[in-house]
Amino acid sequence: MRGLLGKIAVVTGGLGDLGYATAQRLNEEGCKVVLVDVQADNEGKAKGINAGFVQVDISNEADVKKACDSIAANTGNAHILVNTAACFIFKGVDATGADWAQINAVNIGGTSLMAKYIVPQMRKNGGGSIINFSSVSGFIGQSNFATYNATKFAIRGLTKCWAQDLAPDGIRVNTLCPGYIYTKAFINSCEKLGLDIEEENRRASAMHLLNRQGRVEEVAAAAAFLASDDASFITGSDLLVDGGYLAK
Ligand SMILES: NC(=O)c1ccc[n+]([C@@H]2O[C@H](COP(=O)([O-])OP(=O)(O)OC[C@H]3O[C@@H](n4cnc5c(N)ncnc54)[C@H](O)[C@@H]3O)[C@@H](O)[C@H]2O)c1
Repeated sequence: MRGLLGKIAVVTGGLGDLGYATAQRLNEEGCKVVLVDVQADNEGKAKGINAGFVQVDISNEADVKKACDSIAANTGNAHILVNTAACFIFKGVDATGADWAQINAVNIGGTSLMAKYIVPQMRKNGGGSIINFSSVSGFIGQSNFATYNATKFAIRGLTKCWAQDLAPDGIRVNTLCPGYIYTKAFINSCEKLGLDIEEENRRASAMHLLNRQGRVEEVAAAAAFLASDDASFITGSDLLVDGGYLAK
């Protein structure tokens, strides 16, 4: 046991590939999990892992407050917040004001609003763990990815600031930075950019020392580690789960 049994974990982007895999892993380790997503849970995914579900757009402050209040009332005060929800807009210097407003509002603003309303719950519990999803894209430049990468750099920045602010409350804050993981988001971005999926998979695999894309379970295991007492002396860190992508 590593301190996850009976803990309340909120996972944003919980219907997405990495969010759901993380929720499943936390559930297996004994957490009570609540999925948060802007989409409706039409497939009953939350029920499938005995999790709660709240539909909310994390960029809307009034709705986030309501959602977090309802989590506290119906499930209890959260100990763990995993922020995976993200908007995927890939644009370069031609990005419009509307593109920036949208991606900043979700990836930076939404992540921040969830923390704003979950942190008081963690304080009531005497501590907690926040895991913010960045990416290898939060470390490097990639052509025509300025909008996305800027937000993933920002996630690392706000994580380090919050780690300072929240350490006195016993709340650890870390960033999880995946390499390419074979998910819907990967497939969707190939389609959006007009790329052949199999060819792009081979190209993406070759970017990692381990010569493959990661699996969602590998990211979920790292998120559960950061949430657990095994990571009790880790805060303000970036955990790379990137198959050696950034080591090349
Ligand atoms: N998939 C990868 O290869 C990869 C690599 C590096 C980092 N990441 C990061 O991992 C995280 C999860 O990615 P994924 O592959 O699971 O993506 P995904 O698209 O499968 O999941 C994202 C989820 O976020 C939800 N969402 C989007 N906007 C929202 C909003 N405004 N409010 C609430 N929910 C919202 C979506 O509905 C979706 O369910 C992201 O932060 C992404 O940047 C992914």
